[in-house]
Amino acid sequence: MNKKELQEEIIRLKKEKDICILAHAYQDHELWEVADYMGDSFGLSLQAKEAQQKNVIMCGVRFMAETVKTLAPEKRVFLANANAGCPMARQMNREDVLKLKEQYPGYTVCAYINTTADLKRAVDVIVTSSSAVKIIEKLPDEKILFVPDRNLGGWIAAQMPDKTFAFFDGGCPSHMQITAEDVAKAREDHPQAEILVHPECLAEVTQLADYAGSTTGIMKYAKESDRTEFVIGTENSIVQHLSIECPEKRFYPLSEKCVCDNMRITTLEDLYNCIVGTSAEEILLSPQEIEESRKPIDRMIELGG
Ligand code: 13P
Ligand code: SF4
Repeated sequence: MNKKELQEEIIRLKKEKDICILAHAYQDHELWEVADYMGDSFGLSLQAKEAQQKNVIMCGVRFMAETVKTLAPEKRVFLANANAGCPMARQMNREDVLKLKEQYPGYTVCAYINTTADLKRAVDVIVTSSSAVKIIEKLPDEKILFVPDRNLGGWIAAQMPDKTFAFFDGGCPSHMQITAEDVAKAREDHPQAEILVHPECLAEVTQLADYAGSTTGIMKYAKESDRTEFVIGTENSIVQHLSIECPEKRFYPLSEKCVCDNMRITTLEDLYNCIVGTSAEEILLSPQEIEESRKPIDRMIELGG
């Protein structure tokens, strides 16, 4: 089957088998074209609850599929490529959180959604890059222990001088490839362009950028702006998507190194194989895991929705 035939077959089969296909913004454009919904981590979590289908396939990384299963345990949830995991989510486990809590008594524990379902059982509230500031501002608590992404945590803390923050020293290996020198070079090479970055970038990068926001936040900003040139400081798939969707504008990567192999691993063939049952992994969580990890995720939706 060529690409178009494969896409048509996927669309036919997903209807026949009552499947909702969710795709994260970093997925390839050919996966977006067959998905029922494309978005950032917060948008995907909302869709998990709203989808009417009995089955969900996540084209993204493991923590996203786990979040869907937690929010919709009655559905069968599959990860289109079982090898797609977020390296940042592997940097910290539940035991690490429990130890850190002992060091910081009286702190409210906020975890980035890029964490395992097991870790989420030990925290008070989950946030995503697009919802974090709104959620943490609403919390009555003044002391916040933010895990695991120090860069995202620092970006949030800089906007809330009245709160006290403590951090774990984690971060996204792909976004941390971008340097302040890359920003200086981009300003020289593209003096008319605006620089849009993800808050997983190093503080020295977000401070120099014109805008910092989630994957869909960056896309929305670029689409709505009157400017015609943009330098994109996030996974480079977003450069591809924006170039396709806004052919009249110009998009450049802030660093060629900002690539997430885990996000890029899923193919149209993987999705097809998942639908017909020849590969992929069903996400299975115990009732206790679901009950305990759901509390901080529900709080995220309540405060960030
Ligand atoms: P978003 O919530 O912005 O989609 O980010 C998810 C992610 O993994 C970014 O690296
Ligand atoms: Fe994880 Fe970074 Fe890849 Fe996002 S880009 S999935 S945070 S490793």
